[in-house]
Amino acid sequence: MSTPEEVWRKDLKIVRGYPMIHAFVLNWDMIEQFQSKPDDLVITTYPKSGTTWISEIVDMVLNDGNVEKCKRDVITTRVPMLELSVPDTRLSGIELLKTAPSPRIIKTHLPIDLLPKSFWENNCKMIYLARNAKDVAVSYYHFDLMNKIQPLPGTWEEYLQKFLAGNVAYGSWFDHVKSWWEKKDGYPILFLYYEDLKQNPKAEIKKIASFLGKTLDEETLDRIIHHTSFEVMKDNPLVNYTHVPTVMMDHSKSPFMRKGVVGDWKNYFTVSQNENFDAIYKKKMSGTSLKFCTDL
Ligand code: A3P
Repeated sequence: MSTPEEVWRKDLKIVRGYPMIHAFVLNWDMIEQFQSKPDDLVITTYPKSGTTWISEIVDMVLNDGNVEKCKRDVITTRVPMLELSVPDTRLSGIELLKTAPSPRIIKTHLPIDLLPKSFWENNCKMIYLARNAKDVAVSYYHFDLMNKIQPLPGTWEEYLQKFLAGNVAYGSWFDHVKSWWEKKDGYPILFLYYEDLKQNPKAEIKKIASFLGKTLDEETLDRIIHHTSFEVMKDNPLVNYTHVPTVMMDHSKSPFMRKGVVGDWKNYFTVSQNENFDAIYKKKMSGTSLKFCTDL
């Protein structure tokens, strides 16, 4: 039996070809065998794509914009993360999901190949939120500085090389977004972009509501937009991750709610890093109709 200290800053472990967080792999059988329910709603993203943001939006939509109902618990309990598991602590997605009331909202970053089969068998609804790779890389670098269940990121240059090679938890951003984009045609998957949500939250929230069979009036939509704005979420202890023990997430290294903008990558990429990134991006993304915006 491991202790939390034994999993901090451990190297990633490969699961069926994908680098994964060491602590999560210890009980992988339980994840693989997870049984979904037909009314489960899955929120799926590559890490640092705005998962917490869309989770709060979805909970608000399902609760008709009732802020008080969304204060019933911290976001990690309202929307448990399927694969999360830290030994010897109460942090376990599967344990939380055992008692979560239906319809459950389930967060995951798993690539298609690792998502438990049961979700496909039950044809569960899923929302995939994608964010441009440059901002994801910058956000992920800062997250790995503050989150001890991840390996240390090294320097920004070192991290960027690892990111481009797919040697980070959950593997390649390119493979993740492309495979979920292709999968959406055969399953009830709503594919959204962080940048659209930032630019026109009302239109995107309406899409989410319609996908979930809800009709919301203007006042409710405006309340959801306000409650889920970056500024309000940054100050909301139920969603800003300050409830996670400091021994695991150290916000003095980098806050979880860091900047919440499109285009912060320009503050980190050098000209040559950007040229190299663009060249690799062009190759990896050739042949896909996916289009990302890196600046608003
Ligand atoms: P930055 O590090 O670029 O600021 P995830 O929840 O998938 O881990 O994603 C975290 C990223 O989403 C962070 O990005 C965080 O600041 C951003 N984020 C969280 N809430 C947001 C909101 N309400 N609006 C915009 N961005 C938000």
